Amino acid sequence: MDNSFENAKKDASSPAFSTKIINTPFAKPDVHGAINLPIYRNAAFEFADSKAIEEAFVFRRDQHTYSRISNPTVTNLEDKIRSASGAETVMTMASGMAAISNTFMTIAYAGCNIVSSPHLFGNTFSLLNTTLSQFGVEPRFVDTNNLTEIASAIDENTCAFFAELITNPHLEVANLPEIAKILRKKNVPMIIDTTVIPWCGLDFHKTGIDIEIVSTTKYISGGATSIGGAILDYGTFDWGRNKKLNGLPPVKGMSKFALKLRSEIGRNLGACMNPDTAYMQSLGMETLQLRYERMSQTAYDLAVYLSAHPKIRKVNYPKLPTSPYKAISDELFIGNPGAMFTINLQSKQDCYSFMNALQVIRRATNLFDNKTLAIHPESTIYGTFSAEMKKVMGIEDDLIRFSVGLEAREDLIRDIETGLNAF
Ligand SMILES: Cc1ncc(COP(=O)(O)O)c(C=O)c1O
Repeated sequence: MDNSFENAKKDASSPAFSTKIINTPFAKPDVHGAINLPIYRNAAFEFADSKAIEEAFVFRRDQHTYSRISNPTVTNLEDKIRSASGAETVMTMASGMAAISNTFMTIAYAGCNIVSSPHLFGNTFSLLNTTLSQFGVEPRFVDTNNLTEIASAIDENTCAFFAELITNPHLEVANLPEIAKILRKKNVPMIIDTTVIPWCGLDFHKTGIDIEIVSTTKYISGGATSIGGAILDYGTFDWGRNKKLNGLPPVKGMSKFALKLRSEIGRNLGACMNPDTAYMQSLGMETLQLRYERMSQTAYDLAVYLSAHPKIRKVNYPKLPTSPYKAISDELFIGNPGAMFTINLQSKQDCYSFMNALQVIRRATNLFDNKTLAIHPESTIYGTFSAEMKKVMGIEDDLIRFSVGLEAREDLIRDIETGLNAF
């Protein structure tokens, strides 16, 4: 199958990915004709009279009132994300974790359960396993490679299925089309964190995702300029069965999930995106595909090159023929599957010696900066988890994670060789 970016632009009459983002109109024209929507760095918006302010507060008038609730610069980023993804509604947040926690707070209630892969970003696992479980929300961890296990974990109190596509740092690719069939039958929404794969790299319609969560800190921000998150609702799930949402009134163009999130949870928790971040991330959106094509190609090239290296026990990248996820990866992804790959060496000490010798690649957390980053997840992101928990989460101590940036491939290969010669 040819899943190149060019072939992905199937309909020649509709604008391509970057064109759509760059030409996303402002909600209201700027009075000075500014070519980028300026930063509205203000907390409040004034009204001509009491009736107008009342209407704005009760959603009868489309006007901003207060920047914790909505802000023009932030709305502009949300509109760009809608253009890029095709989502019905988008709400940005102060961070990826704020996007995840606000999503769960919108749908979860004491006595419900969330069926999830345990192979999650560290804070997401902790949110489910510790924070939410203390409020009576039960995390039900399942092997997402096992469809029977997923089906039998679901019961009448399951309020969502949750997973990451692609998992960080395990690089697992769940078979979402098959999982979606089970969820549809059981009337459970599919909520997926797609931070590791941007919209231009995913054949979204095959996935069955109802709610998508993204840490915009990563690919979107463009050069790791800022922290942010986004919640995308595709309007594909009927929330009538969810105890928390079923009593809400119908609102045109907004699901019960989106209504609850916008009008209550988002406001009450207050983790809004700030306008400076929205401005930087709007610019990041415009170069997303360009950066992604280059980063993901270099990631693939490095993974192939390193696969033959005698000092490396294993290279993990979904497109490699050795990956158990190659077939599903070829089905779901456009181009190369992301700019993250991992390697297993022989020991934790080898990883430390390798990391210490690097001169071009930065020793840092984060993903999809313009700079290539390497980290030893077991001792850092998962450093505060017990040995038992690390086992549940599948965290290995001989693993190094790379997030590939925009440097020349040859310079990165030379630097990795330097690291590998250090032990
Ligand atoms: C897959 C995934 N989801 C969520 C997050 C959290 O994002 P943020 O740091 O923007 O809160 C991260 C952070 O690395 C991540 O890798």
